[in-house]
Amino acid sequence: MAKRGAFSSLLSCLIVLLFLTPVLAVTNDHQEKQVYIVYMGSLPSRADYSPVSNHISILQEITGESSIEGRLVRSYKRSFNGFAARLTESERQLVANMEGVVSVFPSKKLKLQTTASWDFMGLKEGNKTNRNLSVESDTIIGVFDGGIWPESESFSDKGFGPPPKKWKGICAGGNNFTCNNKLIGARHYGPGNATDHSGHGTHTASIAAGNAVAKTSFFGLGYGTVRGAVPASRIAAYKVCAGECKDEYILSAFDDAIADGVDIITISIGDIDVYPFETDPIVIGAFHAMSKGILTVNAAGNTGPYTASITSLAPWMLTVAASTTNRAFVNKVVLGDGKTLVGNSVNNFDLKGEKLPLVYGKSAASSASLVKCAEDCTPNCLDASLVKGKILVCNRSLPYVAYTKGAVAGIFKDGADWAQIEGIPVSGLQENDFESLLSYIKSTNTPKAAVLKSDTVFNPQAPRILSFSSRGPNTIATDILKPDVTAPGQEILAANSLKALPFYDNTHVKYTIESGTSMSCPHVAGVAAYVKTFHPKWSPSMIKSAIMTTAWSLNASESGYASTEFAYGAGHVDPIAATNPGLVYDSTKADYIAFLCGMNYNATTIKLISGEAVTCAGKNLPRNLNYPSMSAKLSRTYGSFSITFSRTVTNVGTPNSTYKSKVVLNHGSKLNVKVSPSVLSMKSLNEKQSFTVTVSGSDLGSKLPSSANLIWSDGTHNVRSPIVVYAGIFPSLSP
Ligand SMILES: *[C@@H]1O[C@H](CO)[C@@H](O)[C@H](O)[C@H]1NC(C)=O
Ligand SMILES: *[C@@H]1O[C@H](CO)[C@@H](O)[C@H](O)[C@H]1NC(C)=O
Ligand SMILES: *[C@@H]1O[C@H](CO)[C@@H](O)[C@H](O)[C@H]1NC(C)=O
Ligand SMILES: *[C@@H]1O[C@H](CO)[C@@H](O)[C@H](O)[C@H]1NC(C)=O
Ligand SMILES: *[C@@H]1O[C@H](CO)[C@@H](O)[C@H](O)[C@H]1NC(C)=O
Ligand SMILES: *[C@@H]1O[C@H](CO)[C@@H](O)[C@H](O)[C@H]1NC(C)=O
Ligand SMILES: *[C@@H]1O[C@H](CO)[C@@H](O)[C@H](O)[C@H]1NC(C)=O
Ligand SMILES: *[C@@H]1O[C@H](CO)[C@@H](O)[C@H](O)[C@H]1NC(C)=O
Repeated sequence: MAKRGAFSSLLSCLIVLLFLTPVLAVTNDHQEKQVYIVYMGSLPSRADYSPVSNHISILQEITGESSIEGRLVRSYKRSFNGFAARLTESERQLVANMEGVVSVFPSKKLKLQTTASWDFMGLKEGNKTNRNLSVESDTIIGVFDGGIWPESESFSDKGFGPPPKKWKGICAGGNNFTCNNKLIGARHYGPGNATDHSGHGTHTASIAAGNAVAKTSFFGLGYGTVRGAVPASRIAAYKVCAGECKDEYILSAFDDAIADGVDIITISIGDIDVYPFETDPIVIGAFHAMSKGILTVNAAGNTGPYTASITSLAPWMLTVAASTTNRAFVNKVVLGDGKTLVGNSVNNFDLKGEKLPLVYGKSAASSASLVKCAEDCTPNCLDASLVKGKILVCNRSLPYVAYTKGAVAGIFKDGADWAQIEGIPVSGLQENDFESLLSYIKSTNTPKAAVLKSDTVFNPQAPRILSFSSRGPNTIATDILKPDVTAPGQEILAANSLKALPFYDNTHVKYTIESGTSMSCPHVAGVAAYVKTFHPKWSPSMIKSAIMTTAWSLNASESGYASTEFAYGAGHVDPIAATNPGLVYDSTKADYIAFLCGMNYNATTIKLISGEAVTCAGKNLPRNLNYPSMSAKLSRTYGSFSITFSRTVTNVGTPNSTYKSKVVLNHGSKLNVKVSPSVLSMKSLNEKQSFTVTVSGSDLGSKLPSSANLIWSDGTHNVRSPIVVYAGIFPSLSP
């Protein structure tokens, strides 16, 4: 009966639409079609509802064609309702007005954000203290990326039993793609198969959940054991990027992964533009995942250090910035006069210390008028015959140009605070060293240098936020601090796909070194999985809270690339501390909906995100979402202010415990912070207690955001939340 009800409502649309379709059918041929996602919210709970036939009939109606061949791109039917289809603009308008359709938005293309790190974070290899391998082996991490290389030793299933009983996924990686008891599932959404051709998906999966593989290195660099946070856990790979990462693929992957039974989703994908929550597939997918108890961990993005560059903004996701570890790669340049300069590339090529002739681009200009652009090594400004066999020196980092012009090596001006692999021997010098190099070249008729193989160095200044890591503040939910935490994202050695080519020849490597928030994100997904093995019943926000409130506290820095809470959120993840946070800030789906109501989104927009009809009876100020950090954007910089945050903590530590509050002001801020009550006495586990934090002060016109830490301490646990008050978006923090 219910089925008829559903169809009769469609039928009424049909009658209206039939008048329009012939017109559309004519214009169809002339209008360009684009893939749109038609999102229909939660799945009806009726057993007799068939999403696919509903999707087909909707398409038939709006196109006026009985054959919808080539139109329906995919149906979302397992965890929420909707479909992706090729539509013209007028068809898009028609479908948007149909009953049951929540929203229609174009399928955009997102970008992939391109291990000693675990030791750095204190998660030591072989430390089985308190670890329960059978629980770890029941943990499944869903990796949304560019596929995976199943043959990697990092995904070997030696010693693994059959997949956990809860697993409902499949191995549908395409032709000849094989899974095993470690890589228990694979799906691909674009053309081809789930094989990873870029190496990115293999790298991220092995960081989160790869086996421990000993004696690994990149040509001797970074030698040691590569491993994921929870090496006993299983991996399900969802290939959502095939050349491009399309929204429709990403939504499909959420639809599948939720139903397949993954525990944590890691998604090192994002966009450089901010999209409204209601049209962002990661935001929508992560909301559904959260409502099914699955935490989504997302990369902050690589668009830093610019202020407000971050695009991962929803509070139900865990957003991860990238920072350094105590291991860095440097490579030295020894000049003909014996002076040594230190550059920042990962150079595996061993030229045996041989000193070779140097040529600065301007001395290899293809004509006198092209001297300036030859300093930059713009390809058509260089005369290859003057470059061949020499070390090319350029103002810009252009290894490929050096290679194509026949140079044996390159030395470039490169201000980056991280190093990468290139196809030829390369060193990147900071400005001062580059100028020393140029003076040396000027000083002699036969300038020479040796570009040495990279060395591993200890970096005592770690962790520091990397320049490329995207910065807040949050431009949509301005009272939610983003990013949430930081984790290692610099020069991470992890598994590679043998289809990927880091070089210009046919050299393939099983393990490679990459940097990015793409690498920090799976670190935190691994930590979330690790926490979940200790607390299988915890909600996504409890896990997130544990990771945030136990993070290492970081200090703001204004030197180099500015770094404040808008760069590191609550701080640097601490995997072991996160398993025992003492108190957590929990939020339910209803809380997130009340938050959206508080953002003054109307019921229509909220339905676009949550897939549910809401009334907004329970409205909450965004800053009062029970979030583990506290942030508020004030409307003006000058004058006095007073704002209050409400929070509720749940006791997950010691049954009978007393927590005292402590407030520490950060980087010279002059805030007045009052916590009420200032002491919380817990009598039992899972007991909840509420408190308020009132922050007052005046004149926020400082270069840094005014911030403090609230720490609840029972003597054993220190439950720390950053408090950040700001006005405007700190343009002065841009470099
Ligand atoms: C091992 O892990 C436990 C917690 O799981 C921690 O307390 C201990 O310090 C660790 N030991 C080493 C040597 O890392
Ligand atoms: C591991 O956890 C499972 C499930 O909670 C439990 O049955 C088992 O006894 C635990 N094993 C160890 C070694 O603690
Ligand atoms: C699958 O593998 C078999 C055996 O190696 C090969 O003959 C076949 O062409 C492969 N199929 C595809 C689609 O690559
Ligand atoms: C997997 O797909 C790629 C194209 O994406 C293709 O080059 C490759 O041959 C395919 N492999 C198999 C085994 O089908
Ligand atoms: C190249 O770099 C040098 C040294 O930093 C500088 O003096 C020169 O102006 C730069 N050339 C161009 C074209 O920017
Ligand atoms: C942050 O600054 C404080 C005070 O200057 C200092 O005591 C602390 O060690 C610093 N923390 C870090 C992580 O550098
Ligand atoms: C809901 O909000 C959206 C976005 O602001 C707006 O376009 C729409 O008209 C609103 N709908 C209603 C029913 O108010
Ligand atoms: C709880 O702790 C307080 C203070 O340490 C102590 O006086 C009280 O007896 C404890 N209650 C229980 C039930 O353990």
